[in-house]
Amino acid sequence: MKFFIDTANLAQIKEANDLGILDGVTTNPSLMAKEGIKGQEAVMQHYKDICELVDGDISAEVISTDFAGIIEEGKKLSAIHKNIVVKVPMIKDGIKAIKWFTDNGIRTNCTLVFSAGQAILAAKAGATYVSPFIGRIDDSGWDGMDLIHQLSQIFGVQGYRTEILAASIRNPNHIIKCAEAGADVCTCPLDSILGLLKHPLTDIGLAKFLEDAKKFA
Ligand code: E4P
Repeated sequence: MKFFIDTANLAQIKEANDLGILDGVTTNPSLMAKEGIKGQEAVMQHYKDICELVDGDISAEVISTDFAGIIEEGKKLSAIHKNIVVKVPMIKDGIKAIKWFTDNGIRTNCTLVFSAGQAILAAKAGATYVSPFIGRIDDSGWDGMDLIHQLSQIFGVQGYRTEILAASIRNPNHIIKCAEAGADVCTCPLDSILGLLKHPLTDIGLAKFLEDAKKFA
């Protein structure tokens, strides 16, 4: 399973990248706004900065919701860098646009996916990635991981090449469960990635080893 970081914060992207385990980055308009980026030029520059930091796929989301607008925006975003993946919302014009991008060699990430039906449409349109939102499904009282299991099964049986990119990750256990369920990619906040490092027995064990090491130092 590939690890993407789900943020537009350059310091966090750098910290995750420095670990040596990062395969890419996902952003969305809310994450960009959180960084205080304003204006088209600043947005484009920020994507460039992310591409310079990480050698992997970088999802950049369109904000248009009509076919012509999505295409125009997607073309500009994909021209920023070869690693840019155009993130398109799961709407009717979004699916049409994903098919157009597929036919024209532009890679896509279909976002805001909450059901198997939506994911099948994205795969049929040729999306590079499909992003089921695990945490938001959990927040609404359903089990987000059920969707990852279902997509893993369907995509396997059908031989879809679209990669399952588990998104809206809230904690380290989500990451583990996604790996178990067969997600191709998991995009995570930095805290959830770092949470994987932790186990109290590791801390206790290391303290004891360091204490004992003093006896022969
Ligand atoms: C990533 O592609 C999604 O935009 C993101 O994971 C959504 O996460 P959230 O539900 O924590 O906002």
